[in-house]
Amino acid sequence: MTFSAQNLPATLTLDASGGVITGRAPETPGEYVVTLAAKNGSGSDTRPFVVTVGDTLALTPPMGWNSWYIHYYHVTEEHMRNAADVMISSGMADYGYSYVNIDDCWMKKRDDEPYRDARGAILPNAKFPDIKGMVDHIHGKGLKAGLYTGPGPWTCAGYVASYEHEEIDAKKFAEWGFDFLKHDWCSYSAVAGGAELEHMQKPYRLMGDILKGLDRDIILNLCQYGMGDVWTWGGAVGGHCWRTTGDLGLQEGALLPGFYHIGLSNARHYEYAGPGRWNDPDYILIGRIGNARAHDEPPKPTTLTPSEQYSYMSMWCLMAAPLFYSGDMRYLDEFTLNVLCNAEVIDVDQDPLGVQARPIVQDDETLIMAKPMADGSLAVGLFNLAELSRPMTLDFSILPLAGKRSVRDLWRHKDLGTYDGQFTTEVPRHGVALVQLSRSD
Ligand code: GLA
Repeated sequence: MTFSAQNLPATLTLDASGGVITGRAPETPGEYVVTLAAKNGSGSDTRPFVVTVGDTLALTPPMGWNSWYIHYYHVTEEHMRNAADVMISSGMADYGYSYVNIDDCWMKKRDDEPYRDARGAILPNAKFPDIKGMVDHIHGKGLKAGLYTGPGPWTCAGYVASYEHEEIDAKKFAEWGFDFLKHDWCSYSAVAGGAELEHMQKPYRLMGDILKGLDRDIILNLCQYGMGDVWTWGGAVGGHCWRTTGDLGLQEGALLPGFYHIGLSNARHYEYAGPGRWNDPDYILIGRIGNARAHDEPPKPTTLTPSEQYSYMSMWCLMAAPLFYSGDMRYLDEFTLNVLCNAEVIDVDQDPLGVQARPIVQDDETLIMAKPMADGSLAVGLFNLAELSRPMTLDFSILPLAGKRSVRDLWRHKDLGTYDGQFTTEVPRHGVALVQLSRSD
């Protein structure tokens, strides 16, 4: 396949064989509308692509992979390089997955002194012998790199974090070339100086200000599990996305699996999300994943049913959530890739309007969420929370819509026809019907 672009700003170049755009943003803020073209033996296609130059990062929710729920403290540089390779070879990158993020455990552990060099720069542990080389490898694939620290003295897994070394660490992260930072509260309570809101905000404002002052665009992911209603102030302190709950991997469920509980909680904060400020309900745990309670156990296939996996992904996309897969990149099966990489489903997540779906019907058996899209259509998820498959009805009168709608099944890429007043479809146990409703005059 070969690639080309029309009207690409002069400061950017496109590699015709790899399709990777590199360079610096143009000096003048604004929107640059580019036409991307791809061509191979089977045909050609074009698509408009908007390069927006301005002060806001993460205009759409970041997408990628994170090491936590598969590698835990076993994570190595090799895992990270391999994840980048697979992000390309599996096709995930073609759907927008681009960040390759190390979670906790790349730095030294408490019993592994020295933690820093003579100048105070943080030292990676022996599993990361060449961090800069690793980042260069990731960037060489056209991908971006992320890492993890915390405002406290120690990370959640007991490794060295950035307390009183915020500036020197941030500069080091930028020098290594990182593009994304997860800042995890963990041990900060011990040094916060109080439990009031100002003490909760302080470490994030500090890191947010430092990052803004660096000559590198670094996305700041706040991880403090939703304390102090972080969705109301995460953006103001410099965050681009913030976890709204505790760890999804530890979330128990009685009838409904854990992701449903996390998702329902995250869904309540819809009015706070927007371009550059996203609610983060944690990672996508499907495929082969490690045990969040027993990090030495070998990874196992997810226990979620196929219907539940479609619901998980649909819910995250409707909620404009950051999309980070956190399962095993070495064993991606066809079904898992199919769930992670459906272009029309991902378009719901990445829609440039950046509105999070609003739950419009919610009871013990039914969840209906609706997300306004940039083209004036509405993406709607009908989730069957009940224990049996059953027909579900979307009553147009409860939507901000009137009249006839054409309905498209987004998972199947299939137009279902025109409906007047209501739409009914069979939805499997714990499953979803994800549809897009457009005006049909
Ligand atoms: C916390 C975070 C997780 C993960 C671990 C790492 O529990 O919420 O996402 O980063 O720490 O120790």
